[in-house]
Amino acid sequence: MLQRIDHVGIAVASLDAAIERYRETFALEVVAVEVNAEQGVREAMLELRDGAAGASSYIQLLQPLADDTPVGRFLARRGEGLHHVGYAVADVASELESLAAQGIELIDQRPRHGSMGAAIAFLHPRGLHGVLTELVQPGRA
Ligand code: CO
Repeated sequence: MLQRIDHVGIAVASLDAAIERYRETFALEVVAVEVNAEQGVREAMLELRDGAAGASSYIQLLQPLADDTPVGRFLARRGEGLHHVGYAVADVASELESLAAQGIELIDQRPRHGSMGAAIAFLHPRGLHGVLTELVQPGRA
């Protein structure tokens, strides 16, 4: 079950320039900057705080480490912009199992490491009306 939107992922050409723009424009705090070599990105998480909701959501800015990476190819083909939507789930592995049983096309057959200690998995946009979709089991308390 999808619980809420955890983050939106935005592909950018320059992480530093994008951080400055989003941080200054919306007065957001950068809570993590990480390199994920497996995914071929350097990325930043900017926190959206809503005291009432209890759980934060994030803007995830993604700069490819090389042209020959998924985000590098996305930038070359489509330019900067919205890359994926990440939904929070309680258990990524069991969601994958249930989605596969429904015939939904998975990119990741099993969970892998995401931002800030999360377990994540991507679903193919072909089965979801053109939206690259990420399941996120937050690693933070
Ligand atoms: Co993401």
